[in-house]
Amino acid sequence: MANQLIDGVKMSEKFYVTTPIYYVNAQPHIGHAYTTVVGDFLKRFHELDGFEAYYLTGTDEHGEKIYQAAIEHEIDPLMFCDEISKRFAEAWNVLDISNDDFIRTTEARHKKVVNQILNTVYENDDIYYDEYEGLYCVGCERFMTEKELVDGMCVDHKQPPERRREGNYFFRMEKYQEWLRIHIEENPGFIRPTGYRNEVLSMLNQSIGNLSISRPKERVPWGIELPWDSEHVTYVWFDALINYISALNFPDGEKFSNFWPNSHHLIGKDILKAHAVFWPTILKAAGIPIYQSLSVGGFLMGKDGQKMSKTLGNVVDPFELTKAYGSDAVRYYLLKDTVFGQDSSVGENMLVTRYNADLANDLGNLLSRVRALLLRHFKAIIPEGKQEESDQEVIDSGIGLIGKVRPLVDSLRFFEALEEIMAFVRLLNRYFNDEAPWKLAKEAESQTRLATVLYNVTEGLRITSTLLEPAMPNKAIQIRKDLGLGDYNFSDVVSWGGVTPGTKIPNFTEMLFPKQEAETKSSNESVSIQTIPEKTRKDCKEMVDEVSIDDFSRIELRVARVIKAEKVHGADKLLKLCVDVGADERTVVSGIAPWYKPEDLAERKVILVSNLKSAKLRGIVSQGMVLAAEDGDGNVRLIEPADAVPVGSLVR
Ligand code: MSP
Repeated sequence: MANQLIDGVKMSEKFYVTTPIYYVNAQPHIGHAYTTVVGDFLKRFHELDGFEAYYLTGTDEHGEKIYQAAIEHEIDPLMFCDEISKRFAEAWNVLDISNDDFIRTTEARHKKVVNQILNTVYENDDIYYDEYEGLYCVGCERFMTEKELVDGMCVDHKQPPERRREGNYFFRMEKYQEWLRIHIEENPGFIRPTGYRNEVLSMLNQSIGNLSISRPKERVPWGIELPWDSEHVTYVWFDALINYISALNFPDGEKFSNFWPNSHHLIGKDILKAHAVFWPTILKAAGIPIYQSLSVGGFLMGKDGQKMSKTLGNVVDPFELTKAYGSDAVRYYLLKDTVFGQDSSVGENMLVTRYNADLANDLGNLLSRVRALLLRHFKAIIPEGKQEESDQEVIDSGIGLIGKVRPLVDSLRFFEALEEIMAFVRLLNRYFNDEAPWKLAKEAESQTRLATVLYNVTEGLRITSTLLEPAMPNKAIQIRKDLGLGDYNFSDVVSWGGVTPGTKIPNFTEMLFPKQEAETKSSNESVSIQTIPEKTRKDCKEMVDEVSIDDFSRIELRVARVIKAEKVHGADKLLKLCVDVGADERTVVSGIAPWYKPEDLAERKVILVSNLKSAKLRGIVSQGMVLAAEDGDGNVRLIEPADAVPVGSLVR
């Protein structure tokens, strides 16, 4: 897709990517977010790769089902559309989607272009009036053939379609069938992945019929009136598809001449026919060059194993997920744990597992380890290295990475592209562990080697962060900031040495990826006294050698007093403490229930880690952690400060 070579043809350096425009009869869910994240990933990837990129998304606001939804909510259809369209825009905002435009089909700029195209096709005699009887699925907003039904029901909406007979205007779609079939045959990259191309070719091997492009206004009053017959409104799909060019100000707009037809449409598999058959034939009939490529994604499935949808009520809310884990984590997860083109199951626990493994352990840990050594041994200045034979594997892998990643992105294998980058991060971790810079630091004669290892890992992280930027724009920038670095693009990652020795790294930073617990869903057993998983504890142990005074001084410990304690419903090990920290009162959830009764804790002084990032445990926000130690018998005892020390005192 990004391909400079599609079907052997050299593409221009322009890249226009679109998502479907979303129906406003339902709130945005993670299934919608998926295509939008993929689109944003592609836009940013191409921009960093030197393309002039443009990214469009928006909302589809006409048609029967939107009208019905507005009626059900007893509100004016446009007000209803305003409301939900805004929610989509907000969702893309929290997910850091960098769309250049957001089109709404109720906007005048869109209606104008729909009118123009209708007129052109009508004047060419490609539209006629006829009576039609068929099976109509309101969910899909289209007539269906018997063959498309399973047990008499629409596969996507699990509803039988209605039999309808009405007078409509028809577009002579069949006239363009053979032309389209040949185009798809001759351009293997036009519809991808191949399975969907084959599906369309088999549709085109049978008669596709003509397309009803109007609805009687008396039945569906919510739509764009036909320019030649005010008793009919435009069929919602004919109207909606045109968004891809109305947003570019077809026909005279600069954006249109700049980006069309270098356009790449991203869709879900349920709207394949509309994009692969209706849209190119409409464009052809209107005398407009057709789009470059159509990339078809599978569905995100809910916990019940069914396509996530409002109708089935099994949706994951992108707002909630982003609030809990941050937009970069959600974006990364959606790209890394799905295979584009196929259905994928998604869920919060899977997100947490992926986050902890790839982001917290492999990437975040490496960054904090290299930073700690730079702060401790080089006064926060990145040193100059002297490369040796043993550094070559890391160097070659780093500068070869974009060459491996680009073709994977071009062929829609996003998870493999990210896996290549993470494999490089794991290589950097191995290199770091094998070279053991904390040991090198102890020997006077190993100082140059120490400098080289730290330089190489820093340079590796520079390349990693640049390549991860399309997936995780914020964290990528944070990685570079934590290393005192600025921004780069893909032409800066093909050689080693982009980091300038002498660069100063900041003394204090926020943890890149704090470890997460799927506490909202976790069972009792997964909550241990320290609420730190085994793996993290192991990491901490490995890192004991390397905690600098700077690292340690970032932890704020304060004397606190327990005001009251109570059991946490449904969690045997947890107590909810309300503590006085001097300046304020906090809630802390602690796994000390097996050793303390709530009534024994009131008025006790404890030591609290008071600047710990808040975490939700069993739905309670815990704002800190109390310190405890194990006695020889495996019992846990709270650490108590001397009586004379006032509440709120800093522990030094
Ligand atoms: N309005 C039409 C598209 C018109 S484009 C000119 C439409 N809207 S939709 O809101 O129902 O769906 C928009 C996109 O979201 C579709 O590509 C659909 O496949 C996708 N998804 C909706 N639920 C989804 C999942 N559970 N998983 C992945 N994508 C899903 O169709």
